[in-house]
Amino acid sequence: MDLSEFSPQKVCFFDSGIGGLNLLYESALRLPKAELYYFADNFKVPYGNLPDKELENAVDEIFSEIAKINPTVAVIACNTVTARCVGRLRSKYDFPIVGIQPAVKEAVRVGGKCLVFATPATAQSASLRKLINEYGNDTTQVVACPHFAQFVEQNIFNLNEEELMGLLPDLKADTVVLGCTHYIFVKEAVQKKYGCPVFTGVEGTVRRILNVLGVEYQPQIVPFIPKISFVGGDEEKNKRVFYEVLCR
Ligand code: DGL
Repeated sequence: MDLSEFSPQKVCFFDSGIGGLNLLYESALRLPKAELYYFADNFKVPYGNLPDKELENAVDEIFSEIAKINPTVAVIACNTVTARCVGRLRSKYDFPIVGIQPAVKEAVRVGGKCLVFATPATAQSASLRKLINEYGNDTTQVVACPHFAQFVEQNIFNLNEEELMGLLPDLKADTVVLGCTHYIFVKEAVQKKYGCPVFTGVEGTVRRILNVLGVEYQPQIVPFIPKISFVGGDEEKNKRVFYEVLCR
């Protein structure tokens, strides 16, 4: 008898707002039998501009709710929270915690100049510095984007490409890393502006989640979405973005 039919794996995703829905979507397609939860805190976006203590308090509040679910794995679908809080959270909770990080390693492999776009909190973090020391090179440049995440969060149903372009710096690049899950919604516009490959941490993170759950990674998937509970923040908006923008 397959007991997993009766006690499904519970996977809790968490982001400040809508950004993590990108990771939820790619994971959901590969976890048809799991019970999925999406925790968000939309009214406090942008997390990446919050002072450390405020960010920690906001994250602690959400994680105490996640702990009540007793998840098989918790997924931080937010580069900012991974960069600033993952160590502390891992020492506090005994369930596995997977966190998304900027795909510096994958981008630098292509060669040339690599631009890493991130929130101010991620851009200034020791964790991004460590990642770049390990996998980057002297042409890896971090660009802090203080307005980008909020712009996407507020305008998701009506993104104005011209306004968006104005938020992106005029720099030359051979690769771009989107180091914030909100930016993934405008990946095509970024690709158009810089004319180079654009990387996100989504695939690497999905692989790690599946690995923790003992599920094999499938590049080709049957489009079936399991049940998802949207918890906290603007639940209706998150649900709409998931089904109307991503599942469309
Ligand atoms: N989506 C989050 C990230 O990946 C941050 C957005 C925010 O600043 O709230 O960093």
